[in-house]
Amino acid sequence: MHLRLTGKTALVTGASRGIGLATVKALLDEGARVVAAARTITPELRATGATGVAVDLTETEGPARLVERARAELGGLDLLVNNVGGGDADAGWTGGFLDVTEQQWSDAFDVNFFASVRTARVALPHLVEARGAIVNVSSTSARTPHAGPIAYSTAKAALTAFGKALAEEVGPLGVRVNTVSPGPVRTAMWESPGGYGAQLAASVGVPHAQFLEGLPTTAGMVTGRLAEPAEVAALVVYLGSPLAASITGADHVIDGNSVKTV
Ligand SMILES: NC(=O)c1ccc[n+]([C@@H]2O[C@H](COP(=O)([O-])OP(=O)(O)OC[C@H]3O[C@@H](n4cnc5c(N)ncnc54)[C@H](OP(=O)(O)O)[C@@H]3O)[C@@H](O)[C@H]2O)c1
Repeated sequence: MHLRLTGKTALVTGASRGIGLATVKALLDEGARVVAAARTITPELRATGATGVAVDLTETEGPARLVERARAELGGLDLLVNNVGGGDADAGWTGGFLDVTEQQWSDAFDVNFFASVRTARVALPHLVEARGAIVNVSSTSARTPHAGPIAYSTAKAALTAFGKALAEEVGPLGVRVNTVSPGPVRTAMWESPGGYGAQLAASVGVPHAQFLEGLPTTAGMVTGRLAEPAEVAALVVYLGSPLAASITGADHVIDGNSVKTV
């Protein structure tokens, strides 16, 4: 399938590793020109050849600085992939509602919601000009909020709702907005020591490696394995391409059927 992305311009956030890095690679493979943002420009990101921009997107002015850099570098913008999200080691991943501090709620919304809202706001005039597209990376946690950390899943639910509302408003202007909601994906979020997966394993008293081995079953993934970042990236890139011209305002789950409802 030819995705007709050759020469198109794209901005990907959360691009230094995991799903964002895989998305950068997939876009470059399709012939797009890419600006890629994260706080750290990793050797893996540098090796892709994309233009890396180091920026903290939870700072209020971070998204505006980033979009201005992208516009200057690319001359326009056809696609925005709002992939940034997750949280740092002190994100309050485990524990009950009363364990989550004011700061952790605020941090969860900054990285999982406001960073994408602000980036979309400053990118929108350029996307309107290009009749472009936005893909927001949310999570199945938005649909099954009992199953994830409360601040994260609530912020992702807000992001999913935001995508739907924005699609309705900007569709007549020629801009499509879609959401991709992954279930567990094999990234640092699960695999790094001190990350979400490690903290969850510790909270249930299971060694990290053993926890990861059982995760597909625990999560109800009938595929029997975690999704790969490249699989999520392929969906993101398809939705961002002109081939998906009639797809907008939708939330696309990629989760090995871990969400059991229709
Ligand atoms: N992995 C999963 O199982 C899963 C499931 C559902 C949804 N998701 C969502 O998919 C997206 C990508 O997840 P992932 O697993 O690939 O995550 P990841 O490996 O933790 O990568 C997160 C990316 O975001 C960047 N980032 C974090 N905080 C940032 C900030 N303040 N400003 C700018 N960049 C920042 C990180 O780079 P720096 O640290 O260098 O800034 C990194 O590039 C997230 O939105 C996540 O919530 C993941």
